Amino acid sequence: IIEPKTPLYNLLADAALWYQQALKEHPKRQLAIDYLKGRGLSGAIARDFALGFAPPGWDHLIQALGTDNDQQRLMLDAGLILENAETGRRYDRFRDRIVFPIRDQRGRVIAFGGRVLGDDKPKYLNSPESPVFHKGHELYGLYEARRFNRDLTEIMVVEGYMDVIALAQQGLRNAVAVLGTATTGKHIQCLFRTVPNILFCFDGDAAGREAAWRALEAALPHLEDGRRVRFLFLPEGEDPDSLVRQEGVEVFLARIQQQAQTLVEYCFKKLAEDVDLSLPEDRARYQKLLTPLIEQVPGPYLQELMRQRLTELTGLSAPSKSDISGSTSAPAP
Ligand code: UTP
Ligand code: MN
Ligand code: MN
Ligand code: MN
Ligand code: MN
Repeated sequence: IIEPKTPLYNLLADAALWYQQALKEHPKRQLAIDYLKGRGLSGAIARDFALGFAPPGWDHLIQALGTDNDQQRLMLDAGLILENAETGRRYDRFRDRIVFPIRDQRGRVIAFGGRVLGDDKPKYLNSPESPVFHKGHELYGLYEARRFNRDLTEIMVVEGYMDVIALAQQGLRNAVAVLGTATTGKHIQCLFRTVPNILFCFDGDAAGREAAWRALEAALPHLEDGRRVRFLFLPEGEDPDSLVRQEGVEVFLARIQQQAQTLVEYCFKKLAEDVDLSLPEDRARYQKLLTPLIEQVPGPYLQELMRQRLTELTGLSAPSKSDISGSTSAPAP
């Protein structure tokens, strides 16, 4: 039996090689090389992440790989090319962009991201969902991180391709990125199959802070005893890429050590933001907000310690599960 997805995987691997080759020898590659250098990346890192270049033009990839109609249908399925609905004309999806191959845990190329070389919009393009690419499951850089170090104990989760690669360039080879989506329970499960500790480090902006709270919600149901989730919040306007290049890896690591908060700290602090714990009404509200979150924690010891902490803050002893009715959602971060 032939695995039906094999032709798709083969095509994606061919495309990755083609883009990579274009970065090495296409006549228009210089702007792409300059762009990567301008972002502080070496040739060696570009190779580790198999970075490529989609040259400007409408049909380079079709010309190279779309040898017959079957092959072009496959390219459509893979999201490598698009078809104009009116004219039926087919054209390359990725044009004049740096191309980031996205690999699954076995190292197979399953999709691409593409970044413009300047300030055009949209800044990033991703392959669409396909039979081999499901955004909510994949973590960019996980294959590369594991290949580099089989004994990882902590993985850092960041927002973007360039964050993963810039950290790797500075020697921090344990970063992965969620692909323009919120962190899902699937992501968390996948990470905890690899390491006991996760550190979320999203951008220092409103979207990044929102993403952190959603990551907390996704992580809670997976907090077995022995696992640890931390959050590092960056200064306004910075992301891991900009910050690590600006302050250097030593300072960045010290920042993690000094400023990263555990999930429990973050959770208790965040929900206390608009609560005055000297008021009975607010203590009741705080209890009501935190209890359903604490209940989701599967680790019995951690759950009990969270209950104790809540009791210290509100003076209420932990209600038994049957006393709790309804659920409360957290305020927007
Ligand atoms: P950001 O908006 O933080 O990217 O999105 P950035 O840091 O400004 O990008 P650079 O540093 O200039 O290259 C973070 C991530 O969200 C996804 C990409 O994966 C990106 O790396 N994203 C962002 C998209 O998918 N599409 C977009 O239009 C923007
Ligand atoms: Mn941005
Ligand atoms: Mn951002
Ligand atoms: Mn950035
Ligand atoms: Mn960013």
